[in-house]
Amino acid sequence: MIIHVYPNAKTLAQAAATLLAAQITGKPGSVLGLATGSSPVATYQELIRLFQEKAVDFSQATTFNLDEYVSLPISHPCSYHAFMQVQLFDHVNFKASNLPDGNAKDLNRECRRYDAAIQRAGGIDLQLLGIGRNGHIGFNEPADSFSAGTQIVNLTDSTIQANKRFFPSEREVPRQAISMGIGTIMSARKIMLLATGEDKAEAVRGMVKGNVTPRLPASILHFHHRVTLLLDEGAASKI
Ligand code: F6R
Repeated sequence: MIIHVYPNAKTLAQAAATLLAAQITGKPGSVLGLATGSSPVATYQELIRLFQEKAVDFSQATTFNLDEYVSLPISHPCSYHAFMQVQLFDHVNFKASNLPDGNAKDLNRECRRYDAAIQRAGGIDLQLLGIGRNGHIGFNEPADSFSAGTQIVNLTDSTIQANKRFFPSEREVPRQAISMGIGTIMSARKIMLLATGEDKAEAVRGMVKGNVTPRLPASILHFHHRVTLLLDEGAASKI
């Protein structure tokens, strides 16, 4: 793991956006794996700025997001479709953007379709990740074993508590999501994980210093040979 520590979230976002833009410049037809949540928002703002300054062009690039809630209409402002539209896609020019369909009639089939679509696109060149306070990546929650492909997941109470800030009330947070599996994530050629704030410090410590265990899903990243962690001082405070 290559670990970079930045004085604050803004300098981290600038560095992350520069790495993403360099990926696109080096390979304009790149396939990017994207994340939602708070962690990548400032990075997306930097990418939009670079795009507006004509420093990067996404017109040949394709994206696949990590996850989407089950049974939440995509028009719902808290859906990850809506999030990505508002935070990034409305402002830049990707050739195509994909998210799992959490409203598919046959969710298991949708999981298989999503993995096949990633394969058909040539696989993910660079996967962007955040990390949950419980060490989850995507919505792969602590478990007894690592998941393989895209799957339907039950959200843990800790994730529901963490995500309720985006919803009018806790009751409205969906209990299930479709998420790329650990195997899907590990198939990406490069991985870049962003973590900011002291509330991520314990998960970051477990990921960097602990054993590889499905009880802390991000620990699997030790087995990937091109992982870069971008941390601010708060997230890095326990390593
Ligand atoms: C988001 C995702 C999650 C988040 C994680 C951190 O698509 O899959 O794993 O990256 O929950 O969330 P934030 O960034 O809101 O702290």
